[in-house]
Amino acid sequence: MAPEKDRLKDHQFDGIQEYDNPIPLWLNLIFVGTVCFALPYMLWYHVFDKGVLPVQAYEAEMAEVQKAREAQAQQAPSLDVAALAADAAAREAGAQIFASTCASCHGPTAEGLVGPNLRDHAWRNGDGSLAAIINIVTNGVPAKGMPPWKMLGPEKIHQVAAFVYSLSTPNGDGSPHPDAHPETPPAQ
Ligand code: HEC
Repeated sequence: MAPEKDRLKDHQFDGIQEYDNPIPLWLNLIFVGTVCFALPYMLWYHVFDKGVLPVQAYEAEMAEVQKAREAQAQQAPSLDVAALAADAAAREAGAQIFASTCASCHGPTAEGLVGPNLRDHAWRNGDGSLAAIINIVTNGVPAKGMPPWKMLGPEKIHQVAAFVYSLSTPNGDGSPHPDAHPETPPAQ
């Protein structure tokens, strides 16, 4: 700005005077620009709610993540224990697995040998529920000589567990097996 354009105002205070110059063009343009920007912005985001505000975008994204997580959780095979207990085919397949894999320790009819009787209602581990048996067969009781059978894979474990479960509750209703007998204490 050329200094000769500067106009001093008449009044003064304590000997201080001020110029009466127009606002510089660039500052004016910025001011008008912000007004022009603010008006549509306000209408778009806050009056007609067309735009997505950062908080809304964040919440939408989080909802999507949540949905994906739920979908993933549903994909994880959830075992229907009651259906498995009633599955005769699984029981039969389990009997085969038992004969080849478990009978050496638990006896051919699971009456007990090195491993305990599995026909009675006396359980050293768990409560005798199908879920508990699946857990024992999967993880074993290594400290007590029951090996883990994870390597059989979930399907075979479920089958053999269904068979073992049916031994103590042949009716599937928790009633004892006809020839169930209390677990015999190990010989001293
Ligand atoms: C090497 C011998 C051995 C083999 C093979 C074996 N078990 Fe066992 N099992 C044991 C012993 C020993 C125990 C007792 C563990 C304890 O005292 O806690 C046991 C315990 C169990 C129990 C829990 C019994 C209870 O009263 O808590 C179940 C169920 C069982 N075994 C199922 C099986 C199945 C099914 C298989 C075949 C896939 C199998 N076991 C193979 C030795 C064996």
